[in-house]
Amino acid sequence: MVKQVFNFNAGPSALPKPALERAQKELLNFNDTQMSVMELSHRSQSYEEVHEQAQNLLRELLQIPNDYQILFLQGGASLQFTMLPMNLLTKGTIGNYVLTGSWSEKALKEAKLLGETHIAASTKANSYQSIPDFSEFQLNENDAYLHITSNNTIYGTQYQNFPEINHAPLIADMSSDILSRPLKVNQFGMIYAGAQKNLGPSGVTVVIVKKDLLNTKVEQVPTMLQYATHIKSDSLYNTPPTFSIYMLRNVLDWIKDLGGAEAIAKQNEEKAKIIYDTIDESNGFYVGHAEKGSRSLMNVTFNLRNEELNQQFLAKAKEQGFVGLNGHRSVGGCRASIYNAVPIDACIALRELMIQFKENA
Ligand SMILES: Cc1ncc(COP(=O)(O)O)c(C=O)c1O
Repeated sequence: MVKQVFNFNAGPSALPKPALERAQKELLNFNDTQMSVMELSHRSQSYEEVHEQAQNLLRELLQIPNDYQILFLQGGASLQFTMLPMNLLTKGTIGNYVLTGSWSEKALKEAKLLGETHIAASTKANSYQSIPDFSEFQLNENDAYLHITSNNTIYGTQYQNFPEINHAPLIADMSSDILSRPLKVNQFGMIYAGAQKNLGPSGVTVVIVKKDLLNTKVEQVPTMLQYATHIKSDSLYNTPPTFSIYMLRNVLDWIKDLGGAEAIAKQNEEKAKIIYDTIDESNGFYVGHAEKGSRSLMNVTFNLRNEELNQQFLAKAKEQGFVGLNGHRSVGGCRASIYNAVPIDACIALRELMIQFKENA
């Protein structure tokens, strides 16, 4: 008998079964080409259709206005930490960062190498248990941008809404919650996300950028690192990660079939509630890391009373087919990553495991 596995990996993570089955069906003969999509030229019409479909689906699902361009880049969200200041942090301006966890710290670190930076707000002092109050943000007149991390994958916190700022573009790293809920894209100058959590496999980074944001002079920036290069060539300046973009297309089609961003948001709320309720009803046996008002619907982080119990729980989970429940190596504890493709049944199974473990402890 095949053992059932519940995939709670933090990224790369679970993919929707229908998107994988479609890839399996089309693997050896994509669209009557008698070739796999991986074997097509990126300049062929057959591939370009996939590229365009992925862009169109994303535009439709997130209602991305026409003055924003969708880019498919490589180098992960981590390269965006560098590309952003390279392209936007010009002399005399400030890269302003809100620190809500390790990924925002890493983004700031890259900007520091390239220009002047500032910390608009930080919740480091409370171990990144919360998202700071927008009224506490320290903004500067000459901010090149304000950078936020919409969902903090490691600490399990998430912006419930976004600051409305007018003095500079708002830039968001949405790697771990993009398309998990509807979005007002026009609140942002740029959004970027590695695809490997909510959108598809690793290898492609989605960037949604307002075109007029890039009017700054960037002659000193190497060609491949200029957004303008990829905008001009529709992300086909060099060979794109064709199979990752194909899988992205399949995942976006699956989200559309489910009913789009609103429908997926509803499912994500239900899934998260199952686990948070289990934590809250455990009389302190399980303790959530995030403050209630900042809880992430994507990464549920929690601890048991002590490290020994954490380890016993994780061992029991592993034995029963739960994968990826350990917290990030930098913080320990437990983390259930419940991105779009994680089925509700996996969350129900986790609740049962948590209740059973508590009863037997
Ligand atoms: C919020 C966030 N930003 C950035 C990254 C880094 O992404 P990549 O591995 O694609 O560079 C991650 C990865 O987990 C993340 O969760």
